[in-house]
Amino acid sequence: MALSHDQVHPQPGAAPQGALTVLGLESSCDDTAAAVLRRHGDGRIEVLAEAVMGQNSAHAPFGGVVPEIAARAHAERMDGLAAGVLNEAGLSPFDLDGVAATAGPGLIGGVMAALMTAKGIALGANLPLLAVNHLEGHALSPRLTHALAFPYLLLLVSGGHTQLVIVEGVGRMTRLGSTLDDAAGEAFDKTAKVMGLGFPGGPAVERYAQDAEAPDRFPLPMMLARDASCNFSFAGLKTAARRHWDGLDAPNDQDRADLAASMQAAIARHLAQRAGRAMSIFKSRFEALDSPLPLVAAGGVASNTAVREALQAEAQRHGFELIAPPLKYCTDNAAMIALAGAERLALGLTDGLDAAARPRWPLDQDAAAHDPASGSGRKGPKA
Ligand code: KG4
Ligand code: ZN
Repeated sequence: MALSHDQVHPQPGAAPQGALTVLGLESSCDDTAAAVLRRHGDGRIEVLAEAVMGQNSAHAPFGGVVPEIAARAHAERMDGLAAGVLNEAGLSPFDLDGVAATAGPGLIGGVMAALMTAKGIALGANLPLLAVNHLEGHALSPRLTHALAFPYLLLLVSGGHTQLVIVEGVGRMTRLGSTLDDAAGEAFDKTAKVMGLGFPGGPAVERYAQDAEAPDRFPLPMMLARDASCNFSFAGLKTAARRHWDGLDAPNDQDRADLAASMQAAIARHLAQRAGRAMSIFKSRFEALDSPLPLVAAGGVASNTAVREALQAEAQRHGFELIAPPLKYCTDNAAMIALAGAERLALGLTDGLDAAARPRWPLDQDAAAHDPASGSGRKGPKA
């Protein structure tokens, strides 16, 4: 059931009794975002104002996000964006109950922009700070628009993350699997770059794939076919796609379309297959729950139609219902950070002004400690 925040016209000034009003800030990758959210005493959520500024054109010439460019753009925009959403909501910082910011994981120069701005506002208006894990924001994001009870199974698939998580509550997440190498979105982006389709690659691959005449023309491997875990791997797919591309003599748009379709189908297949394993685990762990059980797909890649269809079919086979937040909450946004902050505030889980920005911050510390998918180095932030 969709809640009614889209129709809300906030009244400036006093908040209803028992409500918590929180400003949320996000700058961990290439979107600068701010939102004001109200959590009512009965748990109902209203987004009072929200804004996102992307940076695609700044990064496009490089075919990927350049951390220094991203950090500078966040630092330039964060203040104005925060002031803008407060203004739109008809509120001053003194009307807030807390300030939330992504404190990680992410590109550290970017993370600091939101966190430092939040600390400044918290200090100036004497408000509690909520240092939010970006992944927890994604994990809670379906609750912005759906009256979704815990527990649910989450597949988070974006440019930075690919993981399957059981979400049992705020701060209560169990990671079942994550990527051993690239994130799903990276596999789209890097293949698009090889074929010269531009950045971000996912939407371009999807567009080209629509014109495919022979979507099975380029065989791609089934990754981790004999691996019984819920982990993912995309590096082999990416390499295989590049080999096909390099083997073409003067490739044309039809070649692009066919390879885009093959790659998209292979990624969708892999995601659905691993999600299927996780659904079996979820089902056996929560035997008492009624069907259909909830499978939430969030992150930019979850907006891909072929991916959604593959997940939908797999969900049906396992007695699950696929729930996909609207696109604006699938991708990076600040409403999800404000929501995670408000839920934490309601539980008294506030942070000190010494809260650190963290490049790596696994959702499930225990799983991360015992899992090869979250070792040190470049794999860390994706885990
Ligand atoms: O969630 P998101 O906006 O940002 C983070 O990475 O956190 O996800 C962006 C990723 C990019 O890799 C982009 O190529 C991919 O999601 N993406 C898509 C589509 N739209 C965005 N991938 C496949 N098909 C799409 N339609
Ligand atoms: Zn994200």
